[in-house]
Amino acid sequence: MTDALLDVRGLKKYFETSHGLLHAVDDVSFSIERGKTLGLVGESGCGKSTTGRAILRLIEPTAGEVLFEGVDVVKLGSGAMRKMRKNMQIIFQDPFSSLDPRKTINQIIAEPIKENRIITDKVALEKRVLELMETVGLAERLINTYPHELDGGRRQRIGIARALAMEPKFIICDEPVSALDVSIQAQILNLLKQLQERLGLTYIFITHDLSVVNHFSDDIAVMYLGQIVEKASAEEHFNNPLHPYTKALLSAIPIPDLRNKRQRITLKGEITSPVNLPDACRFAKRCNECVEQCTKGIPPLKEISKGHFVACFKY
Ligand SMILES: Nc1ncnc2c1ncn2[C@@H]1O[C@H](COP(=O)(O)OP(=O)(O)OP(=O)(O)O)[C@@H](O)[C@H]1O
Ligand SMILES: [Mg+2]
Repeated sequence: MTDALLDVRGLKKYFETSHGLLHAVDDVSFSIERGKTLGLVGESGCGKSTTGRAILRLIEPTAGEVLFEGVDVVKLGSGAMRKMRKNMQIIFQDPFSSLDPRKTINQIIAEPIKENRIITDKVALEKRVLELMETVGLAERLINTYPHELDGGRRQRIGIARALAMEPKFIICDEPVSALDVSIQAQILNLLKQLQERLGLTYIFITHDLSVVNHFSDDIAVMYLGQIVEKASAEEHFNNPLHPYTKALLSAIPIPDLRNKRQRITLKGEITSPVNLPDACRFAKRCNECVEQCTKGIPPLKEISKGHFVACFKY
């Protein structure tokens, strides 16, 4: 039996726009085992953040189930959802815009603890803030500084400490290192990895950069225009990519080993609009392996080998 912490089934999020209904997330399903990481990858606008936000109900899903330890989060009333949210946290790409510039580190980290009345005693609260700062590698002397006084890496550490304040079981990391210098990226990734091992955390790791999820994820799901087009273990994903879109994404990763030079695949053709979706494969217009069938129907996500799913008529 698998020990799924999170089981997402048929998740949809449509937005009303002046051009029509925008299918940002369109029937997405996956599950994540406790203590594991699912990497969610794909180009800008494919629906990664919307998937994450709909899971946490920061926006209301249009349809679908989000089972957290067997409880459907989507059906919870506001009181129960408030309690549930302690288990489920998010870390954003740009800690600068997600942190209140008028508040000190102390205030920022203490805020969710105070709001949820977890600790009310002032001395105990400061002790807890210092403990969280230590956990994420922030020096004690920084407690009364403001976000703008710190570099991007330290700001992201505040975001992580704030997420950890509720002792969550599950964290959505939405491009947590994309805005950081490469040298700092590795430090933050290492911190997230250490925290996962120490605290038994389960992650969804969202990124448009496949080279980042490479070492970080147990499983990888590739999204294209609101749908998962391929899902496999990270190892299988890199050694045996099947979907033409995954192959193109992987071919764009620079690899240092010259003997193993990969042919870079350039995607041509126009991107299908998420508003007026055709009754065809959403990737067909850009696919260099497209055949007639691809323009005439929608390929289902099929299990090709154990745990390896792909939505492509070639398989
Ligand atoms: N509030 C909204 N109203 C209307 N459309 C939205 C809204 N939020 C997102 N979208 C649209 O939904 C689609 C998915 O957006 P989303 O932000 O989830 O993509 P993403 O994969 O996270 O992209 P990025 O890599 O740029 O962060 C896009 O077409 C976007 O324009
Ligand atoms: Mg996003």
